[in-house]
Amino acid sequence: MPNKNLKVLVGVVALVLIAGLAVFMKPPIGYNQGYQPTQPIPYDHSLHAGKLEIPCQYCHSNASYARHSSVPALNICMNCHNQVKTQSEHIKKLADHYNEGKSIQWQKVHLLPDFVHFNHQRHVRRGVACQTCHGPIETMKEVFQYSDLSMGWCVNCHRKPENNAPVSCSTCHY
Ligand code: HEC
Ligand code: HEC
Ligand code: HEC
Ligand code: HEC
Ligand code: HEC
Repeated sequence: MPNKNLKVLVGVVALVLIAGLAVFMKPPIGYNQGYQPTQPIPYDHSLHAGKLEIPCQYCHSNASYARHSSVPALNICMNCHNQVKTQSEHIKKLADHYNEGKSIQWQKVHLLPDFVHFNHQRHVRRGVACQTCHGPIETMKEVFQYSDLSMGWCVNCHRKPENNAPVSCSTCHY
């Protein structure tokens, strides 16, 4: 009898440990919030968008007229880096890629599932600030995913009376 109780006890302890481990090993927060991939070149938003105050849309010009807000092509960088910091190893890499007609393989930070329809233009034209969704990018040395991008996050904002935005399923799902 005591032997059987011991087995049950060991079983329970093992279950608790496994459950604990599962919680511990899951990505810290749901939906990749906080995701911060390492980029091939240490491009710094806190320097360019913060200190130098280059407007977001100087580089992300698509945001106000397209679904995607695209990452800038290298000719935009070379507007300045033709002259600026040309001796830096990172800028040399940038210039080499540019001269060879190659692009830099930036790692995507934000990624919605394919079955969700999102559109920058609609939001940006309505005056929703980039920072409302992306956080204080102009202070980030490396970009991370600030909002959780969950369905609840989208719908809660659409539901706010002042937004008057649609919440039917087909708004966001094909
Ligand atoms: C001088 C050009 C430049 C400016 C100005 C700039 N960005 Fe960027 N941005 C980039 C580049 C290059 C990347 C890709 C590398 C990275 O993620 O850091 C990027 C990435 C991003 C991403 C992540 C994209 C993804 O992969 O999901 C967001 C969001 C973003 N920028 C928002 C902003 C906002 C908001 C501002 C203004 C406060 C801004 N950027 C200003 C060049 C710029
Ligand atoms: C209403 C919320 C919202 C606003 C406002 C917003 N974004 Fe985004 N942004 C997102 C979401 C969601 C994604 C992921 C889209 C996807 O994976 O299809 C994203 C992705 C991006 C990307 C990666 C490329 C892409 O389109 O997938 C960049 C760059 C970016 N945003 C920049 C900006 C800039 C710059 C502004 C302001 C001019 C801005 N965003 C305003 C929610 C927003
Ligand atoms: C409006 C001008 C301007 C544009 C456009 C610009 N930069 Fe810069 N960048 C600068 C300045 C100024 C510095 C700081 C130079 C210094 O430290 O004295 C800098 C510094 C850098 C550095 C750090 C270099 C080092 O080794 O210290 C990197 C990397 C960089 N930029 C990448 C980029 C990329 C990638 C783009 C395009 C997405 C870009 N820059 C667009 C002006 C610009
Ligand atoms: C900060 C508030 C906010 C967040 C967060 C937000 N939206 Fe919106 N969204 C709006 C507003 C406001 C409009 C109405 C724009 C207009 O009137 O043109 C809108 C409009 C839209 C539209 C166009 C609707 C139409 O009439 O066809 C789509 C699609 C959309 N949002 C998808 C999304 C998705 C997907 C997410 C989450 C990934 C999201 N939105 C997150 C505020 C938000
Ligand atoms: C404003 C945008 C928006 C609206 C409206 C919306 N969704 Fe979603 N939905 C999303 C986003 C973003 C995701 C992906 C993130 C997630 O799973 O939370 C999603 C995910 C889902 C998923 C997959 C969940 C999962 O766990 O994989 C289902 C199912 C779904 N939505 C059904 C619906 C139905 C049914 C409606 C209407 C009652 C609806 N959605 C309305 C944005 C929206």
